[in-house]
Amino acid sequence: MLRVGIVGIGFMGWIHTLAYRKVKGAKVVAYCEQIEKRLAGDWTDIKGNFGPPGEIMDMKPYACYRDLDALLKNPKIDLVDICLPPGAHATAAIKALKAGKHVLCEKPIALTAADARKMVKTAADTGRQLLIGHVLPFFSEFAYAHKLVTSGKYGKPLGGHFRRVISDPLWLPNFYDPRKVGGPMLDLHVHDAHFIRLLFGMPTAVLSTGRMRGEVVDFFTSQFQFPDQRLTVTATSGCIHQQGRAFTHGYEIHLEKATVLFDSAVIDGKGELNMPVTLLTADGKVTRPVFPAAAAEDAFAAEIGEVVKSLRTGKPSAILNGQLASDALTLCEAQTQSVQKRKLVRI
Ligand SMILES: NC(=O)c1ccc[n+]([C@@H]2O[C@H](COP(=O)([O-])OP(=O)(O)OC[C@H]3O[C@@H](n4cnc5c(N)ncnc54)[C@H](O)[C@@H]3O)[C@@H](O)[C@H]2O)c1
Repeated sequence: MLRVGIVGIGFMGWIHTLAYRKVKGAKVVAYCEQIEKRLAGDWTDIKGNFGPPGEIMDMKPYACYRDLDALLKNPKIDLVDICLPPGAHATAAIKALKAGKHVLCEKPIALTAADARKMVKTAADTGRQLLIGHVLPFFSEFAYAHKLVTSGKYGKPLGGHFRRVISDPLWLPNFYDPRKVGGPMLDLHVHDAHFIRLLFGMPTAVLSTGRMRGEVVDFFTSQFQFPDQRLTVTATSGCIHQQGRAFTHGYEIHLEKATVLFDSAVIDGKGELNMPVTLLTADGKVTRPVFPAAAAEDAFAAEIGEVVKSLRTGKPSAILNGQLASDALTLCEAQTQSVQKRKLVRI
């Protein structure tokens, strides 16, 4: 049984807690949080944009710590699950790896590609695993697309377009701070940057245009270039400043013998499936796979299941490994530079 210490009892600390309840082979044994009230079990003021509200938790079964250094001294913890704000990821992950713990860290891996590389190097030096919580490939619609591309059943991938747009998240005070969260590029688009890296390999250059808000990109469109010139990959992401559409995401992915479409949104507080996952095949057929209804934490439970497998086999997950997340951050950094310099940035 993998014994886990969760660091940060905020929105993700809560969602991960719900997810661990559904995972075989892992058990939360400790928490670390700086807010006393939460450490004492009152999680009712946790704010997020999906899932059930936080509850009153019985903390008696858990070892509770106010700071990470104390948690890291606990020899009964195998995996440190970092659910801290992005600006705290690199320092916490490096400390945990050096203390001999495996690490699952929420996305984005860090705020700079240089920090991400340090984290990956520390994992290699210490022989511990660094896994990053890129949960997108574990949502049914994205898991389907990932499997479709990697199976090779419909030929090689030719490219795709990926879209992820939210309304300005007014409840997140540090969202646009490049030293704390990193804005829409690092907090939002990084999901698609990671998915693009996973499906198509590492781009060699990016060309992006967009609008800045202070030091971070607010809204942009990027073209990704690859050694295979046929690969035509674009992405659009960022914030709009009308609250009526809180969230939208989707994709159109082209393969040699199939195209797959998906587009969903939250409009006026309600989910709208503009285009359910739809597969168009070369024989003219249109197929719509049906996915079982899922709770908010189910994709996270699948992600943690993959972490358990990674640690059991000793082989870092092909989806969650730190290098892939570091590559995604390198892409985001290049996209930001491209917007700022108004030119192609080579990677
Ligand atoms: N995968 C997803 O879909 C998804 C969704 C939301 C957030 N996230 C990511 O999860 C991470 C956390 O986001 P969140 O929304 O849970 O943030 P949050 O602000 O709700 O929670 C962070 C918690 O960490 C605590 N904390 C901060 N510094 C600390 C320290 N030094 N020691 C102990 N506790 C400390 C805070 O008090 C807070 O309770 C971010 O990287 C974010 O990008 C991922």
